[in-house]
Amino acid sequence: MSNDLEELSSKAAAEIEGATDPRVLEQMRVDLLGKKGRVTELLKQLGGMAPEQRKAFGEQVNRVKETLSAALERKAQQLGDAELARKLASETIDVTLPGRGEDVGALHPVTRTIRRIERIFNSMGFESVQGPEIEDDWHNFQALNIPESHPARAMQDTFYALDGSRLLRTHTSPVQIRTMKQRKPPIRIICPGRVYRVDFDRTHSPMFHQVEGLYVAENVGLADLKHDLMRFLSLFFERDAEVLFRPSYFPFVEPGADVHMRWGDRWLELLGCGVVHPNVLSAVGIDPERYTGYAFGMGVERLAMLRYGVDDLRLFFNNDLRFLEQFR
Ligand code: FA5
Repeated sequence: MSNDLEELSSKAAAEIEGATDPRVLEQMRVDLLGKKGRVTELLKQLGGMAPEQRKAFGEQVNRVKETLSAALERKAQQLGDAELARKLASETIDVTLPGRGEDVGALHPVTRTIRRIERIFNSMGFESVQGPEIEDDWHNFQALNIPESHPARAMQDTFYALDGSRLLRTHTSPVQIRTMKQRKPPIRIICPGRVYRVDFDRTHSPMFHQVEGLYVAENVGLADLKHDLMRFLSLFFERDAEVLFRPSYFPFVEPGADVHMRWGDRWLELLGCGVVHPNVLSAVGIDPERYTGYAFGMGVERLAMLRYGVDDLRLFFNNDLRFLEQFR
């Protein structure tokens, strides 16, 4: 073997042996055996050699190429193994360490209150139904005996669509209308859902929840209403609640009442109710001579305030975790 070739071979072999970085090793391979590598260049010289020289030189260069190629492969394997071992060592999991706590969420207190109300009324024979939050004037007002010019409309400041034809329902009472139009008595339903009004203070928010109740059959009256509501309240609060039934006015009932509960040294209004007005039954095609009924609409947040001892209803909608976490 020529001295130059021998020197190239032993120097390259020593460099390969000393490599510690896979990227450097790859560069060495390119420099030696790549398209323009030093060994490749030597092979290219063969073409210009005399035939007797070419055979001997060719054999020598090929031997060097094979030796270096094998050395490169061996080293690449070694470095790969070492890298893997380092990675495995650095990524070991200490299974004896204590686990990281999971932060488990919980149902919102308003959701819990709705479910509680539904559970109780379902057990009393009321079926849960739903209605749309975007309503029209007829279902929200007119069919409920509240004509366009009626002063009762001012009781509920309404969010109207810009074109004036649609509105966000101000109460769940339009679901009474929708249900009575679809079914024949006896009807016994509740409807929980969101309602909207231009309201904002400690006991009022612009979006809140109501649960509507409706019972229409033969011979249903005020006594049934009072009995069923008292039963509901004692089941909901798990005690005999101190309750005030006070006459009130809603155009869609006659007579009408408000129900209040003791709240510190005040009374807090929980719901409106009454005996369904004959005009409402007529509007949906139910014979008011044969059927009577009662209806109520309760404020879910008001019930939640009393149950959980919360003194500002708006807290339910601030999404402050310090508040919400208390209801786990
Ligand atoms: C009504 O909405 C009637 N539809 C209830 C009704 C149904 C009467 C069927 C007769 C027959 P009222 O506007 O009083 O009535 O609201 C009912 C309850 O919703 C109130 O008693 C109160 O508990 C709650 N409420 C009213 N406004 C708000 C508000 N802005 N924020 C939170 N709760 C409210």
